[in-house]
Amino acid sequence: MRMSVIGCGYLGAVHAACMTELGHDVIGVDVDAAKIGALSVGEAPFYEPGLPELLTRALATGRLRFTTDIAEVSDYQVHFVCVGTPQRKGEYAADLRYVDAAVEALVPQLRGTADAPALVVGKSTVPVGTAARLAALVEELTPVGEHAILAWNPEFLREGFAVKDTLHPDRLVYGLPPGIAATTAETMLDEVYATPLAAPTPKVATDYATAELVKVAANSFLATKISFINAMAEVCELVGADVTQLADALGHDARIGRRFLGAGLGFGGGCLPKDIRAFMARAGELGADQALTFLREVDAINMRRRTRMVELTREELGGSLMGARIAVLGAAFKPDSDDIRDSPALNVAAQIGLQGGYVTVTDPEALDNARRLWPDLRFAATAEEAAENADVVLLLTEWAQYRELDPVKFGEVVRHKRILDGRNALDPATWRAAGWQYRALGRPRV
Ligand code: UGA
Repeated sequence: MRMSVIGCGYLGAVHAACMTELGHDVIGVDVDAAKIGALSVGEAPFYEPGLPELLTRALATGRLRFTTDIAEVSDYQVHFVCVGTPQRKGEYAADLRYVDAAVEALVPQLRGTADAPALVVGKSTVPVGTAARLAALVEELTPVGEHAILAWNPEFLREGFAVKDTLHPDRLVYGLPPGIAATTAETMLDEVYATPLAAPTPKVATDYATAELVKVAANSFLATKISFINAMAEVCELVGADVTQLADALGHDARIGRRFLGAGLGFGGGCLPKDIRAFMARAGELGADQALTFLREVDAINMRRRTRMVELTREELGGSLMGARIAVLGAAFKPDSDDIRDSPALNVAAQIGLQGGYVTVTDPEALDNARRLWPDLRFAATAEEAAENADVVLLLTEWAQYRELDPVKFGEVVRHKRILDGRNALDPATWRAAGWQYRALGRPRV
C-alpha cells in the first residue's frame, strides 16, 4: 500500500521504516528539516537499536523517502499521524496542538475516491474524545467528502524495542468510525497489517473511544504496577525485607506476573508520566475524576522514589552532600534509549547537584541530550571516568555495561567503595564480597 507517516520522531521514524519492511511504499513527513535530512541518508536522529540497519535496508528498496513538504502526500492512500502529545506546560492535560496542526495540514491534501478512499490513521496517544473531534475536522476540511475516513490505531511500542514491537506487535487495536465507513477502514487496515495479522496477531476492532482508552489504560496499568512494587519497597525498607524477592514470589502467580514489578527509581520517559496525568485531567473534564484519583497516588509514589534516592545518598555520605564526589551511572530514562524526557536518573543527579554535591554523570548514549538540558552538571564518557575518586556511585539507569561492571576492578578508581543501586540491577553479594558498601531501594542493608 502507499502510505504517509506524518511526524518522524520516536514513533513515526520507526513506523515508516517498519511499514517499508512489511512491503509498503512509504513517505515520511516532518517539519524538522534536520531530522528529514538525517533520515533520508539512513541516519536515525535518536538512538534506537536496530533502526539504522532497518532504515538503510528500507531506503535501498526505493520504497521509502522523507520530505518536509506535506503536499507530497496527496497521491498516497493511508496516512498515519504519529506526532507527539506532550504534557501542557503547568497543567496535567495533553497538548494537542501538534496533532491538530498535522490533521489540518494533511486533510486538504487528501485525494480519496469511491474506489480508493483516503484513510487517516491516528497513532498518537490522545485523550478520549479526540478522534471523534478530529473526524468532524476531517469532514469539514476534506476536498473529497465521504471518501476521506478517520481511524484510530494506538501504538504500544517500547523505546529500545521499537522495531521488534512494530514488526511483531502483541495486539492490533482499530478504533473505527460509525456506519459503513467502519468496514472500509477495517479492510484497509487489515491490508496494512497483513503480515503481522497472519502471524497471527490478535486484533480488537472497536469504536474510537474504546481504542483511545486502551492506550491510556494500558500505560496507567503499567505505571500502577511499577508504583505498587515501589510502595512495597517503601515498606520493605522499614522492616528489613527484600523487595526483589517479594517481586519474584509475587511474579510466580500467573495472575500477577513478574514483568513491570522491577522496584527502584520508578518510571520516567515521554509516555507513562504524562499519560497518567493527561488521563486524570480528561477524567476530570468528563466528571469521572474519582475513578482515577488512585493515579495521583501512583504518580506520588513514583516521584517519592527520586527524593528517597537523594536522601539515601545523603545518608551514605554521613548526612551532607556538600562537596562530596558523586558518580551517576545512567542519564537516559531507561536503558537502550537516549531519551531523557522526565528521566528519573537526571532528576536525581540534578537534585544532588543543586544541593551541593559534585556530580559527574555518564551514559552510553544520552550524554549529548543530557548536556543540552543540564549544562551545569559534569559529564564523563565512561563509568570509570565518572567514578574517579568518587565518594559514592549511584546506578540509576541499568544499562548492560553497568550491570556487568567488575566490582573488583571498578573499586580501584573510586575513593570510597560505596554503591547505591537505584534499579536493583546488581548482585549485592558479589559487590559486598569485593569490599563495597552496597545499598539499594527496597532491600535490607547489611
Ligand atoms: C511505554 C509502554 O511500555 C509502551 O507500551 C507504550 O507504547 C509507550 O510507553 C508509549 O506510550 O509510547 P516506554 O516509555 O518506552 O513504553 O518504556 P517502558 O519500558 O514502559 O518503561 C517506562 C519506565 O518505567 C522506565 O523509566 C523504566 O525504567 C520504568 N520501569 C519499567 C520500572 O521502573 N520498573 C519496571 O519494572 C519496568
